[in-house]
Amino acid sequence: MLRTHTCGELRMKHAESSVTLCGWVSRVRDKGGMLWIDLRDRYGITQLMAEEGQTAPELLQALRSLGREFVVQAEGTVVKRYAPNDKMPTGDIEIRVERINLLNPSKLPPFLVDDETDGGDDLRMQYRYIDLRRQPVRSKLELRHRMAQEVRRYLDERAFLEVETPVLIKSTPEGARDFVVPSRLHNGEFYALPQSPQTFKQLLMVGGFDRYFQIVKCFRDEDLRADRQPEFTQIDCEMSFVEREDILQTFEGLLLHLLKTIKGVELPPLPRLSFHEAMMRYGNDKPDIRFGMELVHLKGYGHDHTSGVDFGVFDTAERVVGIPLSGGAEYTRKQLDELTEWVKRPQIGMKGMVWMRVEADGSLKSSVDKFYNTDRLQSWREAAQLQAGDLLLLVAGSDSLTMKAASALRLELGERLGLRRADEFQALWVVDFPLLEWDEESARWMAMHHPFTSPIPEHIDLLTQSPGAVLANAYDLVLNGNEVGGGSIRIHDRSLQAQLFEALGFSPEEANQKFGFLLNAFEFGAPPHGGIALGFDRLCALMGGSESIRDFIAFPKNNAGRDVMIDAPGPIDAQQRRELGL
Ligand code: AMO
Repeated sequence: MLRTHTCGELRMKHAESSVTLCGWVSRVRDKGGMLWIDLRDRYGITQLMAEEGQTAPELLQALRSLGREFVVQAEGTVVKRYAPNDKMPTGDIEIRVERINLLNPSKLPPFLVDDETDGGDDLRMQYRYIDLRRQPVRSKLELRHRMAQEVRRYLDERAFLEVETPVLIKSTPEGARDFVVPSRLHNGEFYALPQSPQTFKQLLMVGGFDRYFQIVKCFRDEDLRADRQPEFTQIDCEMSFVEREDILQTFEGLLLHLLKTIKGVELPPLPRLSFHEAMMRYGNDKPDIRFGMELVHLKGYGHDHTSGVDFGVFDTAERVVGIPLSGGAEYTRKQLDELTEWVKRPQIGMKGMVWMRVEADGSLKSSVDKFYNTDRLQSWREAAQLQAGDLLLLVAGSDSLTMKAASALRLELGERLGLRRADEFQALWVVDFPLLEWDEESARWMAMHHPFTSPIPEHIDLLTQSPGAVLANAYDLVLNGNEVGGGSIRIHDRSLQAQLFEALGFSPEEANQKFGFLLNAFEFGAPPHGGIALGFDRLCALMGGSESIRDFIAFPKNNAGRDVMIDAPGPIDAQQRRELGL
């Protein structure tokens, strides 16, 4: 070893011992007679010290010639600091340097390797290997490592086997676009990278593996967002001879185990909401339940508190949805105008916003007073259960747009009111999703989860007459308003699978060509099975207090899907193209 200790471990108890450290020069302070160097490695920072008169002149000169990010080996004696630094774990001591060995010089780094850096996103990504030296970046990847260890421990203790599935496969049906890889040996043919190991894990169940997991890379060619990367990692799992309840229990257990071991947070058993209820109460199938402000339906879901006064905006709307704001009556005109502008942004797409407030004396005031008399407003107040001092904000329009807008406005208000705290955790299951959704563009039914998801047993017969009404035996795990996992009980019966492919508009030939291998396998004793996949990057980000997954990936793609460090994607040369038949 080139070192006796790390830069994070020396304390007063090591005083007077001779040590050798290795690391990167983080900072040099030269105060004439005294010279200090902060030496950094993965474990921390230790201060090196030299003093004119005490330190040999050649050594002092060598130390003075060190630049930022030079890699050195330093030998010396641990001594007590004159002025201890209680902000650093090693702050009680310093090393009186006796020998320095330059292991490798460095060019001037393009940004400060500090907790607070002056490097912009692009620059840090281009020099990610330097960025990785920064403590906040490293600690996120350390958290990821600890999470992976805990996942393996939990699942291993429950007899799950970790099995690797192939990466060069053919198209998987998760609903995004595939990344494809041209084949040299079979010109004109392509592999696809897996969007998930879905079909393989089901085949492992047919193979009798019974409990499988894999921490696995998945690839999806879709538009990027803060919580999406083109390649990302799943904790992918499958179990045989189980019902939905067994899966919910097992993976609720995993989430609670992670929250406890990683964050020291203990949650009670998770609530469960049906898709329908989640949409009605929050306008969203991944509700953030860290705060209330549940939606109030003045028109829609069987209510109508708005018709009959000739207020065109509400009369033509499919839905009128309110968000109650406790204590919001204090909002100024300016604040209300600003929120109105907010819902009118193209991303939200509302034409305007209506408000009603309950004054301190209980009287009601609204922006639509000329249409609605006090009795009508009173019915709104009752529907929303408003107290004196509360405010109700209303949006109206078509069904899906209004629900989306109401959900977004609720989240925005929650954010502004500081109700979405990164260090508070609330999770839930959303269950009973519709099996199919109608796709306007292709004018056909699409699987909401994927085509291997089983309908709930009572709904199998509905599949042919009213496909839209069939509920799926599917579930999503939601943490702090983010979908961190999804799965289902699968179809294991060949004829039901064929029936579903038919409902999805596949001809028997197409179904056979795409998934014949699975249909065949189902004829050789497929056990009842089901599973789930958790988004590992998302879980790490949320546990690390962020909704952006990039920082929790060692070498992420930027928001245009590029790796700016290795400059990928890039062109290939003519020879390679020829070989691949492109
Ligand atoms: P699903 O498509 O819901 O299910 O994916 C499971 C979880 O993976 C995460 N996730 C992503 N994370 C980062 N970037 C992305 N582009 C991305 N896409 C998805 C989400 C999501 O909940 N085979 C099924 C699982 C099953 O049925 O067992 C599947 O892949 O957190």
